[in-house]
Amino acid sequence: MTRMLLGLILAVGFSAVISAGELEDRYNKTCVVCHAAGAAGAPKTGVAAEWESRMAKGMDALVESVDKGMNAMPPKGMCFDCSADDFKALIEYMAAPK
Ligand code: HEC
Repeated sequence: MTRMLLGLILAVGFSAVISAGELEDRYNKTCVVCHAAGAAGAPKTGVAAEWESRMAKGMDALVESVDKGMNAMPPKGMCFDCSADDFKALIEYMAAPK
């Protein structure tokens, strides 16, 4: 059991650019402001149906939208020290059904 857990932790640690804890921390400081409640038409976190049409554009296009800003979303979604990989991880986090 311990070994399995350790393997899991290592797998997560090596595959993600930032840890799950850091990811949630960034989300909670930035994207959450609009995406938790769906302010100004923002697709809601955890509501996969609202993300479907967005995800269909492809991850690169979505990362670009965040980087440049989109209508009511300010450039970089207010996460100024986020990299493109961080945005990708944040988008996957928000689009996953909760
Ligand atoms: C100030 C509010 C606000 C913040 C903060 C914010 N967003 Fe958004 N976001 C929006 C709104 C509003 C839309 C819908 C834009 C539209 O379709 O007109 C949106 C749309 C998006 C989309 C879809 C883009 C597309 O091309 O369809 C993605 C991806 C996204 N946000 C990611 C993020 C991420 C990642 C963060 C945090 C780093 C973030 N947002 C922070 C308001 C915000």
